Amino acid sequence: MTESSTSTLHVPVLLREAVDALAVKPGGRYVDGTLGRAGHTREIIARGGSVLGIDRDAQAIDEAVGTEGLVAVRGRHGDIKEIADENGWNEVDGVLLDLGVSSPQLDDAGRGFSFLREGSLDMRMDRSDALTAADIVNSEGEDGLAAIFRDLGEEPNARRIARAIVRRRESRGRIETTTELADVVAGAVGRKGPRHPATRVFQALRMAVNDELGELDRALEGGLAILRPGGRFAVITFESLSDRKVKRFFSSHVGRMRSLQAGGEEWCGEEPRARMVTRRAVTPGEAEMAANPRSRSAKLRAIERT
Ligand SMILES: C[S@@+](CC[C@H](N)C(=O)[O-])C[C@H]1O[C@@H](n2cnc3c(N)ncnc32)[C@H](O)[C@@H]1O
Repeated sequence: MTESSTSTLHVPVLLREAVDALAVKPGGRYVDGTLGRAGHTREIIARGGSVLGIDRDAQAIDEAVGTEGLVAVRGRHGDIKEIADENGWNEVDGVLLDLGVSSPQLDDAGRGFSFLREGSLDMRMDRSDALTAADIVNSEGEDGLAAIFRDLGEEPNARRIARAIVRRRESRGRIETTTELADVVAGAVGRKGPRHPATRVFQALRMAVNDELGELDRALEGGLAILRPGGRFAVITFESLSDRKVKRFFSSHVGRMRSLQAGGEEWCGEEPRARMVTRRAVTPGEAEMAANPRSRSAKLRAIERT
């Protein structure tokens, strides 16, 4: 499939749950920081809202342009506050992040996100960025690679895989393609269990190439800052590192009352304050998981700014 192909659809995950969590109201203004194929955005618009949609992938923006009720902006959601300010979208009613990659990105072999498809090791969501996954795989030393696989992929065999990559580079030169890398990983750790052994390594590289955790930190701060009181913030994650970050950030703004020894209570938490909308993470039901296997690891959390 070529980069310009648009034949792959993206099935929005937790669509009703996420848009319900935003409590969309007619005339409301919402920021979708991960526009993708505009699945969630279209549902917000269908419920009467208008949307400022942000995506760092030019193809997502090209496909969304012309959608009524949507202002589509190419950029990073780490800059959500600046982008909202520039477009006059501060004091919004809701912010949505549906993190990770879209199906068209994953299914396009040329983007290099999937170990199932032979393609160059790219993984840039924004193809004007300089750093690719191949740059990391072929330039980092064993320690650097092991740290990436451990810290961003929670890969238990990080060191063994890093060593195998360095050995393979020394014996046969650069690793240029997705399947070459997947084979090196499988050779290092074997094939056990239902998941492909390269799953965590590919996740780690994608997160490193796109600085996904750094982007998320800034998007959480910026997203909350542009919400009006009563506005909702909903985030869908697909791996535990991002989910933990969202959970911790939301909890810190929900805060708690602490009893004082001298009597009375004081509020303990970050400003601005919020209340939890989802008591615990919302996950897809059996039917959604069966219809869309990519939804399996999804978790939705939401708060309301108070
Ligand atoms: C899972 S998809 C979103 C799908 C969308 N909700 C839909 O229903 O079509 C994630 C999208 O977020 C984009 N993205 C990921 N990180 C980003 C970032 N830091 N800034 C802007 N867009 C980002 C990706 O390019 C991708 O298009």
